[in-house]
Amino acid sequence: MPLKIAIIGAGLIGPRHAQAVLSNPSTELVALVDPAPSGPATATQLQTRYFPSISSMLSSIDSDNKPDAAIVCTPNDTHVPVSKELLSAGLHVLVEKPLSTSIDTGLSLLRHAARPEHAHLNLLVGHHRRFNPYIVKTKELIDSNSLGRIIAINSLWTLYKPPEYFSEPTTWRRSRETGGGVVLINLVHDIDILQYLFGPIVRVRAERTAPSRPNPPHDAEDGAAITFRFASGVVGTFLVCDATPSPHNFEAGTGENPTIPRTGEDFYRIFGSEACLSVPDMVRWSYDGKDVKKKSWTEPLTVERVEVSTDVVPLEAQLAHFVDVVQGKAEPSCTGEAGLRALVVCDAVRRAMESGMLVDVEDVGRMIHERDGEGL
Ligand SMILES: NC(=O)c1ccc[n+]([C@@H]2O[C@H](COP(=O)([O-])OP(=O)(O)OC[C@H]3O[C@@H](n4cnc5c(N)ncnc54)[C@H](O)[C@@H]3O)[C@@H](O)[C@H]2O)c1
Repeated sequence: MPLKIAIIGAGLIGPRHAQAVLSNPSTELVALVDPAPSGPATATQLQTRYFPSISSMLSSIDSDNKPDAAIVCTPNDTHVPVSKELLSAGLHVLVEKPLSTSIDTGLSLLRHAARPEHAHLNLLVGHHRRFNPYIVKTKELIDSNSLGRIIAINSLWTLYKPPEYFSEPTTWRRSRETGGGVVLINLVHDIDILQYLFGPIVRVRAERTAPSRPNPPHDAEDGAAITFRFASGVVGTFLVCDATPSPHNFEAGTGENPTIPRTGEDFYRIFGSEACLSVPDMVRWSYDGKDVKKKSWTEPLTVERVEVSTDVVPLEAQLAHFVDVVQGKAEPSCTGEAGLRALVVCDAVRRAMESGMLVDVEDVGRMIHERDGEGL
């Protein structure tokens, strides 16, 4: 029996998730929920049932089509109430990133998901880049010690978003109050990937870029220069900005987003004791094949290009993983807790931007068990 899935939110990303559901033989698109006037037409295009709210879907959908699971594609500040409502109705949830817009609401969602009556349900966070073939290969190289001991990383997410990106009906993207700003919309992806590759980030520092858009109405940040320290001892720098024309960002580099032209330019450079790797051009520089005594800056480096097979669509791979998790065939890759770990670093980056100080990142394990004296 295919897993019956509802898509909640049909703006920019919702229809792409819906297409992934339609193209997977193990899933069935049973409903689309969105209160916007464009909702019914989108549902018609996707040949599925339309509902203006989750409650109307739950009360009026016939039992044969009741969803088993939902993918939450609504604005950032709605993720927590929407996901709670779905879990309470007995649905598995894959919620788009970020998990939440604040640590407290993120924790409240984790607590809600951990209630005994929800024990059979899964809450996953849509950090789908974990399934991107370039990241899969990079992780494989790091985990197999191909670069030696990782020492440092240098990373970029820089591009230019036009004014329309922030205008009606998506004005939530320009305000901090509604979870807008480049940190929660974009940087959170990279933070999840960096922690996936190198383990927890424990300390950050950040300098905000000079604002490029008028405030009001834009009160959210558009960029920052950041330093990270990981628990492993790895250190890193990150330049993020959505107001500068540039080919150096994940989407353009990998070409994974069909609306952003591919450049193939690098956005991560990973430096190990034996080699360095740039991603996604996957060029590896080392002294491999040379006499060990000749490992020196005065020697020519060995250059190789690591092959990556790019026939995987990350959103589709994430959906296949979600199905496997729901069917008990796999452990979740990006749990609610992992989603909170990314959010907590975003929160630290923003506090560092405001204070100009080094900020220690709160330990999520401890936070879950100690904050408010409650565990999960
Ligand atoms: N994984 C990715 O690469 C990726 C890319 C884009 C967006 N996102 C995330 O996906 C989410 C949606 O982003 P977007 O750019 O598509 O936003 P959007 O504003 O284009 O679309 C959001 C849609 O949700 C609808 N909506 C609002 N409240 C709702 C509710 N309670 N129930 C049902 N529908 C509701 C809105 O009417 C709108 O159509 C955000 O959290 C964003 O951060 C992720």
